[in-house]
Amino acid sequence: MTRRRTVLIGTGAIAESHISAAQAEAERIDLVAAMDIQPERAAAFCQRHAIPRAYHDVTEMLRVEQPELVFIASPPAVHAEQCRAALEVGAWVWCEKPLCQSLAEFDTLTAVEARTGRYISTIYQRRFSSGARHLRQLLQAGALGQPRLALCQTTWYRDAAYYQVPWRGRWETETGGATVTLGIHMIDLLLYLMGDWREARSMMTRLDRDIEVENILCAILAFENGALASVVNSALSPREQTYLRLDCQRATVELNYLYDYRNADWRYTPLAGVSSDEAASWSAVSEEIPPSHAAQLRHVLDAYDRGEHPPASGADGRQALECVTALYKAAITGQPVLRGSIQPGDPFYDRLNGGMYT
Ligand SMILES: NC(=O)c1ccc[n+]([C@@H]2O[C@H](COP(=O)([O-])OP(=O)(O)OC[C@H]3O[C@@H](n4cnc5c(N)ncnc54)[C@H](O)[C@@H]3O)[C@@H](O)[C@H]2O)c1
Repeated sequence: MTRRRTVLIGTGAIAESHISAAQAEAERIDLVAAMDIQPERAAAFCQRHAIPRAYHDVTEMLRVEQPELVFIASPPAVHAEQCRAALEVGAWVWCEKPLCQSLAEFDTLTAVEARTGRYISTIYQRRFSSGARHLRQLLQAGALGQPRLALCQTTWYRDAAYYQVPWRGRWETETGGATVTLGIHMIDLLLYLMGDWREARSMMTRLDRDIEVENILCAILAFENGALASVVNSALSPREQTYLRLDCQRATVELNYLYDYRNADWRYTPLAGVSSDEAASWSAVSEEIPPSHAAQLRHVLDAYDRGEHPPASGADGRQALECVTALYKAAITGQPVLRGSIQPGDPFYDRLNGGMYT
């Protein structure tokens, strides 16, 4: 089995999940170096996880190590330039959400992918669990009928201390608030299950914290198949909950959790008249794969081995960012936004807040 020569950029909180994923894929990942702009943090991280070399300069690490794969766990504002640098040395990239600060940056990176023949996968681990993949198969097979209504809720709590980290709370460095930083995972999962959306309407606000970005956004999405979804993102909810509900023609499907879930957390309620055997089959998932970084990395490495576009790359990686951009544009302008309508020349193509909400 090929062991990919891998380096990690950013050794803060979420980098620990990258280590767990690398350990789960030890036969295919050779983590040779890690880098952080805080040298002592990178050194301590490398020592803690027995990583051979620590760096505090990205360019030097990429030049010396010549990696095949780069994990990126740095703050959002530097993702795009680091992705680009990694592609240019011939590496594939597995990067934290949000992949970049705008659709313009995303499309520039797509052009670099096309030129280098290397790919970037955005980390959206929620959709790689066994339960999510199983539900998508049921929906695609038509077993549950058409989805008609969805509720997609990320209602979490982030206190003032959370925003003490210098890059948080500002458009320039975090790229946005509760929607792009917290809710984007569930939005990605919603789109993965429901397919193409058509129109977005929304409102947002920021309350109780000394920040620029929104900490509450409430939206409605209309889908191409006529279904509607309510999307709620909050960083001000004392009883924290992550909730997804799909009302389909033959069943209601719910997922109720906070950060992690198992197959058993998916609840299927059949329409009256559906046989109990059939309903029981919906909940029968053969493997138990939680929505971890390791769950996604497995698929990225499979794609790498086959030389194919990895999941959550290209159009499949762009859709959640486009949807989030539309939710911001709809909230800030007070106008409905159609999918595909945010194009070059639109201020929201260049910045998630269109430069209008500061
Ligand atoms: N997938 C998930 O579930 C998940 C969860 C939390 C955070 N994230 C994302 O991961 C990223 C990092 O979040 P975090 O919570 O680990 O942040 P953090 O602040 O804990 O860690 C970021 C690290 O990056 C370092 N850094 C800053 N600038 C850098 C640069 N130019 N080059 C290299 N390193 C640099 C910092 O010194 C710090 O050690 C963000 O994009 C965040 O949205 C994803």
